[in-house]
This record gives sequence, C-alpha cells and structure tokens, in this order.
Amino acid sequence: MQDTATLTIDGQTYELPIVRGTEGEVAIDISSLRSRAKVITLDPGYANTGACTSTITFVDGEKGILRYRGYPIEQLAEYSSFVETAMLLIFGELPTKEERAEFRTMLGDQALLHEDLLHHFDGFPPNGHPMAILAAVINSLGTYYPDLLEIRSDEEFRQAVAKLISKVRTIAAFSYRKSRGLPIIYPDPRRSYCENFLHMMFSVPYREYTPTPEALRALSLFLLVHADHEQNCSCSTVRMVGSSEANLFASVSAGVSALWGRLHGGANSAVLTMLEQIRDGDLSVRECVERAKRKEFRLMGFGHRVYKNFDPRAKVLKAAAKRLLTSLNVQDDLLEIAQELEDIALSDDYFVERKLYPNVDFYSGIILRALGIPTNMFPVMFAMGRMPGWIAHWHEQFQDPNARIHRPRQIYMGPAQRDYIPMHARKRTS
Ligand code: CMC
Repeated sequence: MQDTATLTIDGQTYELPIVRGTEGEVAIDISSLRSRAKVITLDPGYANTGACTSTITFVDGEKGILRYRGYPIEQLAEYSSFVETAMLLIFGELPTKEERAEFRTMLGDQALLHEDLLHHFDGFPPNGHPMAILAAVINSLGTYYPDLLEIRSDEEFRQAVAKLISKVRTIAAFSYRKSRGLPIIYPDPRRSYCENFLHMMFSVPYREYTPTPEALRALSLFLLVHADHEQNCSCSTVRMVGSSEANLFASVSAGVSALWGRLHGGANSAVLTMLEQIRDGDLSVRECVERAKRKEFRLMGFGHRVYKNFDPRAKVLKAAAKRLLTSLNVQDDLLEIAQELEDIALSDDYFVERKLYPNVDFYSGIILRALGIPTNMFPVMFAMGRMPGWIAHWHEQFQDPNARIHRPRQIYMGPAQRDYIPMHARKRTS
C-alpha cells in the first residue's frame, strides 16, 4: 500500500503523506502543501476535509454505521444508558459498576445552580427562546468556577464534566419553567439523570411527576443516540473555539449556538411543525414531497451530509417512538403521517437518486412530544444529549500535543487594489 500521494502542479511534483484510519479510511495530509507549493485546497462546507484524527466516534455514511469508541450504536441503544454512554465517550471506556456509581453521585451533587445564577433567568423575556437561554447560561456558568477555566489535572476535568453534564439539564428545565411562568423545581439527587430532568420539568409543588419506566427509557435512548456524531457543525464549532484555548464552558456554549440552526439541531422542531401542518390540512403529504422536489423548501428530517443510507439513529428512534406510544396507549397522527411521508419519499426518484433518507431528527420529535416536551425545547434536548460528545472532542483536542489554532484560508475574489475615492466623487451607477 502506498504511503504517499503524488500531486503535480504547474509541472512541479509534490509527495504528500497518506494517513489511514482504523477502519480503512484514507486521507492525504496536505498540511505542508501551502508552505511547499504556495497552494491551498478549496472545500466549501468542508465536505471533503478532515480537520483532525479522532478516536471517539466512527461513522460510515455509505453503510449506515455509527459506533462510539468502537461500540455499535444499536448495542449501546439496547444495553446502555445515557450516563454510561456519556462516560464511554468522555473517558474512553465503559465504566465499571463502581465508576458509574461514583459518577452518578457526582452528577447528583452537581445538579444545583448557584443561587445568583437564577437571577439570569429573570432577565430573559418570558417568550425568549430556550436555546438562547441555554447558550447564555452555560457560558455564564464558567464565571462561577474560575478554577476550572484552566484545566490542569484529570480531577479538574472530571469536576468540569460533572458540572456541565448535570447542570445543562437543570438549566434546560429552568428555562422551560420560566417560559411558562411556573415555579422552579429544584433537582432531587435521589433520582436518576432522566427522572430528575422530568421531575424539574413537570413536577409542581403540590404534585410530584412520576414518569413511567418506558418514558424514562425513551428519554435515555433519545439522549444516547444524540450523544456524539463526530465532526458535525456544532462539534466542529466546539473544536474551533477550543482551539484558541478558550475554556470548556465557553466552547460548549458556542456549540449550543451552532446547533440551533434549522439545518442542524433545529431540524427536529422543524419536522414537527411540518408534520403538524400536514395534519392540520395546510399541506398534503404528496404536496409536501412535491414542493421539496421543486426546492421550495427542504423536507425536514431528510438527508444528511454523511449518511447516504439509512441513518442508524433514525431506525433506533423510529422503533422507540412506536414502543413509547404503545406503552402510553397513545395513537399519534403525526407518527402515521411521518411513516407515510417516509414511504412516499423513499420510493420517489428525487430522493432515491440523491440518497436522501430519514435522519435522526425525523422520528425524535414524536418521542419528545409523547414525553410532553414542547416543540421549542426540542433543540435544547438535542443539546443535552450532545454535551458528552462536545466535551469529549474538546478534551481530545486539548490533550493533543499537535493541536493548533483553527485558522482556515480562503481564496480572495474581491476587487483588486484600488485608490480611496473622496465622498464628493462617489457615484452609484444603479
Ligand atoms: N429535502 C429536499 N431536497 C434535499 C434535502 C431535503 N431534506 N436534503 C438535500 N436535498 C437535495 C439538495 O437540494 C441537493 O439537490 P441537487 O443535487 O439537485 O442540488 C442534494 O439533495 C444534495 O443536498 P446538499 O444541500 O448538497 O446536501 P448537504 O450535505 O449540504 O446537506 C443537510 C445536508 C442535512 C443539511 C440537508 O440534507 C438538509 O437540509 N436536510 C434537511 C434538514 C435536516 O433534516 N437537518 C438535520 C440533519 S441530521 C442531524 C444534524 O446534523 O443535526
């Protein structure tokens, strides 16, 4: 097997190292190209650019494979929990019983927010989007832990991890309570991660909310399948921000902002809105598909930059959505509409040729809806799930002795040099 690739530019030949991954992926290392040949590569949207090597998550988009630290997502979905999977992603191995118990205790101990931080919630308007609140409050968290703005030891890192994984859930629940004008319900450390979240979301002072085991399992599964997805937009943002040696709190807060967009974590709420429009008769399923084909809009929850086959997370969540609805004895029209939409799209040449399959966001909203989570909280739920992945990537980069500040180049296409025009001489032709 070759270990270099040959590139010829203007008659000059350059040997470039080839890097091979564990699963046979091949990359050409062009990091020395500009200094040697005064040439850069151009790749808008980075679809063909590897920004780093990583040991965290493997995705094979052609085969529909997703593995965290080598473990298939299907096995983790069946046997693991969100907290255990978060530990796997962040610390590299599945925890022992003792390690998991100890980490769960840390999460319980870290669930409260500093009381002063609660005033931040009062400063937002009641209808302020919870993603804005989440990003702002996570960034503010760092101000309460100045010792953790520089991570100097594994123990400090563990402390920061426990704070973020635990408190993101408290912040998410409090932002919902504020938006509804409901009193804040403090976390209860005796409850499991998911149970505690639902307690903070839905208990009221005179009535404790008790979720069913199926609801808890569905929430854990939702968070678990969202826990990492290698170099997606928000993860790359976290790495980008972290590459300047910005602290962990600031870096993951930037990840929340990147996740908010409709093409990324905001897609799950957009899917639900689309399904509701169909249910309410504003749009038929067929019309929806046709309008997507005419490129009037995108069929939300369909297509993926990497998956050119079924997104394995969509399969897991579709089955979970059905299980949850059956256990709750609920018939949701939206699930039926989603299935109809999927069937029509998957047999349509437009979607087949472009290899557009349902992605993770297509069925996730049905689960969240069944759990009583309002639509504007959907991306917040995604952010809670993705927190372990962001942290794992930030830390991997932090520990990498070869990591450098991210600083892409560009090809300038603007005006060539010209002389300053005084105000009186400026004219517009159109
Ligand atoms: N509906 C209709 N057409 C689509 C869709 C869609 N959902 N997605 C892609 N296409 C078409 C697109 O118009 C283009 O057609 P053509 O070749 O004729 O120009 C072709 O498929 C390739 O699209 P692209 O924009 O080059 O693909 P991309 O890799 O840049 O975008 C994507 C990936 C996920 C942003 C896109 O598929 C999309 O907008 N999907 C809808 C939003 C969505 O569900 N996002 C969640 C993604 S998964 C979770 C996450 O990342 O957070």
